[in-house]
Amino acid sequence: MVKVLFVCLGNICRSPMAEAVFRDMVKREGLEDKIAVDSAGTGSWHVGDPPHRGTRDVLDRHQISYEGLKARQVNQQDLSNFDYIVAMDAGNLGELRKMAGFKKTGEIRRLMDFVPNSDILDVPDPYYAGNFDEVYEMVAKGCRGLLETIKQKHHLS
Ligand code: 4NP
Repeated sequence: MVKVLFVCLGNICRSPMAEAVFRDMVKREGLEDKIAVDSAGTGSWHVGDPPHRGTRDVLDRHQISYEGLKARQVNQQDLSNFDYIVAMDAGNLGELRKMAGFKKTGEIRRLMDFVPNSDILDVPDPYYAGNFDEVYEMVAKGCRGLLETIKQKHHLS
């Protein structure tokens, strides 16, 4: 099983969106018993909360399920349990690297690193800006690139 964890700050806007979008792609390709998906936040403010209304609305418009998603905080075990720890922006990436220290962990990368030739490497935080549609387009592109990378690297099809 290849295990993927998406990480943002609050785990209510971007990373649950990525979790839902990626799980949907994985399911459409019949890979749900080969790739496991989860998400978490570096912060603890929203632990136990469902995804933000903006994330739910955009997922509804794209008919993607977010059933059962609840915010949780990333922990040390996650860093060794997951093969791919996928940060949304440079802030999340820095927090994850700080937590990891010199320990052996899964691969820690930013989502947009998986989009070939992307000029933008950070998925912007829609919590204040409200740009959930723009964020969705970026998340969908990043998830597509991530899935192609995993399929190739792990010889899945
Ligand atoms: P997220 O967005 O990291 O994409 O879930 C945020 C959610 C909550 C807060 C900040 C960003 N907050 O400050 O509570």
